[in-house]
Amino acid sequence: MLDTDAWWRDAVIYQVYPRSFADSDGDGMGDLPGITGRLQHLQELGIDAVWLSPFYPSPQHDAGYDVADYRGVDPRFGELGDADKLIAEAHGRGIKVIVDLVPNHTSSEHAWFQAALAAGPGSPERERYIFRSSGEEPPNSWKSVFGGSAWERLPDGDWYLHLFDVSQPDLNWDNPEVRAEFLDVLRFWLDRGVDGFRVDVAHGLVKEANLTDWTTTSTILGGLDPAGPPPPMWDQEGVHEIYRSWRRVLDEYPGGRILVAEAWVAPASRLARYVRPDEMHQAFNFPYLDAPWRPAELRAVIDETLEANDAVGATTTWVLSNHDVVRHASRLGFPVGTPRMPGIGAEDPQPDAALGLRRARAATLLMLGLPGSAYLYQGEELGLPEHTTMPDEFREDPAWERSGHAERGRDGCRVPLPWEADAPSYGFGPTDASWLPQPATWAEYALDRQQGVPGSTWELYRTALSLRREHGLGHGSVVWQEDAFAFRNGDVLVLTNFGSEAVKLPPGARLLVSSEPLDGDGRVPTDVTVWATL
Ligand code: NOJ
Repeated sequence: MLDTDAWWRDAVIYQVYPRSFADSDGDGMGDLPGITGRLQHLQELGIDAVWLSPFYPSPQHDAGYDVADYRGVDPRFGELGDADKLIAEAHGRGIKVIVDLVPNHTSSEHAWFQAALAAGPGSPERERYIFRSSGEEPPNSWKSVFGGSAWERLPDGDWYLHLFDVSQPDLNWDNPEVRAEFLDVLRFWLDRGVDGFRVDVAHGLVKEANLTDWTTTSTILGGLDPAGPPPPMWDQEGVHEIYRSWRRVLDEYPGGRILVAEAWVAPASRLARYVRPDEMHQAFNFPYLDAPWRPAELRAVIDETLEANDAVGATTTWVLSNHDVVRHASRLGFPVGTPRMPGIGAEDPQPDAALGLRRARAATLLMLGLPGSAYLYQGEELGLPEHTTMPDEFREDPAWERSGHAERGRDGCRVPLPWEADAPSYGFGPTDASWLPQPATWAEYALDRQQGVPGSTWELYRTALSLRREHGLGHGSVVWQEDAFAFRNGDVLVLTNFGSEAVKLPPGARLLVSSEPLDGDGRVPTDVTVWATL
């Protein structure tokens, strides 16, 4: 039966990127005690849950999305006891904890892959991955998402598949041992008290049996072409059975534990199949993130995704930023309709920072006015922009090298957070060490410059989250109004002005919050969102 009161249906979930959130020991890399030490701020912000990107033992060739041990904590981030403490403290503050699960591939340093290398061709150890022997040429034309071939040849002649970096071999989900292992990993973390899992590359686990050729390169978050033939490595029917088996495990635990799909699948009706009642609970709404800052497209994607999720009884999610895309405060500073870019370097066209922030604040207020569940990415509550001028020598994203430097990659959105304007590393840690350089201009974004400052982005987020709760917006619905980009959600009118002229609020409207001040005549200026009651 549909549990319409379940906590996650309207939850605001804040993504913590452990490398860059807070560093407790001064080595320049964020860690779990650092996160625990800052939970108070997240409670003040008013979020419902955190999602932690991977903190497991890993050689960090893909910032932890290359997991060497699914049941541990990388010494860079602390130890298992620190994870337990974080979970307990978060729960004590009323914050749920979602961890990242990476089931499509392991690290090449995982014990299983090391055993596969040692055991040689034809061994059961190699059956846990996708090995083929095809002579001099790779088994097919598949490309890695990060660039180059998706196949790597070993000295013994076997090739293995890696849809991502060469250090991320794809697992063979036809092997029952792989399935059993992940059920056990789920239980391991559920027993430790986590409230759910964000499932990495959820549409990739099962590959078409005959590995048909496919030359199209997939991109991070790039949806599949709904009109084209189905790619043989993505969104295969077999994935659903896996999630049904996971769901059964989660349902054995109390408190509403959830699965969240990271799946680059289109159209929305196809993605909604991942959140049918006996599968996952939520799926990221990447078409929303990708929609241009134009009313017609935004309205279309809102309608389409609400309809597709309603049809399966699922909640719709909303997201504007994460650790894989240019931060929305920078993205929206480019001319409307500029395609999403794979990173920005100093020689690339630069965004208009003021316009980007203005639109980002309006975009966030619009998003938080929608019913369903919203995802925030650490730092957006400070109005943080992308680091768009990072010197290339600091880049760590494998996409930078694998694309032959065609893609700047994702480091620009992963820069350690500024907490205190006048402290070393802006308070990220006790020293001035920071694994990626922080721009010299970041003092102005620091939390301590924004707390209690009316109109700051931090206070805007706090106000919006508290009003969202008070007015039950997460549980509401969208009723479009005529004449403007505006909808009613319960007793709240959400209006965004995309036009070039200021617009009037309807007679009798009482302002709750606005992303920028209204003009002298009480009208809503361009690129501003307001919430009002009528
Ligand atoms: C999606 C993750 O969000 C991204 O950061 C990672 O590189 C790929 N999956 C591969 O795990």
